[in-house]
Amino acid sequence: MDRIRIVGGNSLQGTIPISGAKNAALPLMIASLLTPKTLTLENVPRLADVSLLVRILGNHGVDYSVDGKRVGDTQMAGNTIHLSAADIVDTTAPYDLVSKMRASFWVIAPLLARTGKATVSLPGGCAIGTRPVDLLLMVLKALGAKVEIDSGYVIAEAGRGLRGGEIEFPKVTVGGTHTALMAACLAEGTTLVRGAACEPEVVDLAACLTKMGARIRGAGTPTIEIEGVTSLGPARHAVLPDRIEAGTYACAVAMTGGDVVLEGARPELMQTGLDLLAKAGAQVSSTNSGVRVTRNGAGILPVDVETAPFPGFPTDLQAQFMALMTRAAGRSRITETIFENRFMHVQELARLGAQISLEGDTAIVEGVARLRGAPVMATDLRASVSLVIAALAAEGETIVNRVYHLDRGFERLEQKLADCGATVERLAGS
Ligand code: EPZ
Repeated sequence: MDRIRIVGGNSLQGTIPISGAKNAALPLMIASLLTPKTLTLENVPRLADVSLLVRILGNHGVDYSVDGKRVGDTQMAGNTIHLSAADIVDTTAPYDLVSKMRASFWVIAPLLARTGKATVSLPGGCAIGTRPVDLLLMVLKALGAKVEIDSGYVIAEAGRGLRGGEIEFPKVTVGGTHTALMAACLAEGTTLVRGAACEPEVVDLAACLTKMGARIRGAGTPTIEIEGVTSLGPARHAVLPDRIEAGTYACAVAMTGGDVVLEGARPELMQTGLDLLAKAGAQVSSTNSGVRVTRNGAGILPVDVETAPFPGFPTDLQAQFMALMTRAAGRSRITETIFENRFMHVQELARLGAQISLEGDTAIVEGVARLRGAPVMATDLRASVSLVIAALAAEGETIVNRVYHLDRGFERLEQKLADCGATVERLAGS
């Protein structure tokens, strides 16, 4: 297994190109199941999760191709991919594939909407909490599907097609909202969704579905209305930039000091995070090409944070912000409200010298003057990258194990950091 070796202490200077968002690319790719025509997606990041989803979609009959390099493409340019589900050949998503990536459970909505049936393995637990799918099943039932669970599989049927209905989410769920959008756009009649997630990735999916011919109003607000159509057609759509990747590198610059432009980042997608970084002592500004983050001279100030659905502070940046706070001049409190068990990075940050204690859903971080490199590992991708951020500011060498977590969600991480002056390299596993 590959590892990443980091020697801390260098400030970051330069430009980091921001890739297409993993969490937008995945539902967009899944939406290809809704039409027999070709869905072309641009700016698709090169990530292990994307490759895995290509395999999963292939199992249902989706043909996949990727454009070759074009004149003027840089190494960092995203891929343009074509997905064609002319015929759905298999409506079962088996355990061995779904268990590797939770988001693949979302195929249940387009399979059901297009073919009237879907058998999808329950995704099971995962490293950041129990993560049930009850609200996704609630959506399917509200649209008239018969849903049963048998031997670890969800079996959903709507022999005469889905019908529009009313859905009210008791809590904000991104996957639940994606499910509602994909199921309702081919249902007969109108669907009203209340309590919908407002995340930019939901808006991106709705924009792409609209290009395919769906009739959706209100995406990006808590109330979405979807008027069903009988079929969807081809479309071409560019995946929006990854606000979590951009926020991660912004935390890294705030941590190490320096001056970096996050090329392609869209500040309006990450305003809460940028405001908190400014409070912590970084200077943040919008430029023509993206977002510029600098921290020169001054130290890091402690800032309290609570995660919340968009436009609040994202849970997917909580670990990275905690890494930053480990070096703050004082105590900060970081509260996780979305997932019940998303603090696995705490123990590993402690290996680098961080002082963090847990009180229920809150981590209390006592900033320290120095971190020291150490071997570390983590159990999910955001936790892993928080260790990278801490390592960039730690004295000496850190080896981050289980790099496959990083490869799931961060494209060319070591290259992007090394290009800005970090001492970081990938050590090939034996
Ligand atoms: C998406 O997961 C993201 N994944 C997650 O990113 C992200 O952390 C999360 O949204 C929250 O922003 C992708 O987009 C692929 P949810 P999702 O449904 O949709 C509870 C990363 O690191 N819930 O919004 O699965 C759930 O347990 C990943 O890139 C139910 O109770 O998250 C959680 O407490 C990790 N019942 C809350 O809702 C359900 O049926 C929000 O989860 C569904 C969810």
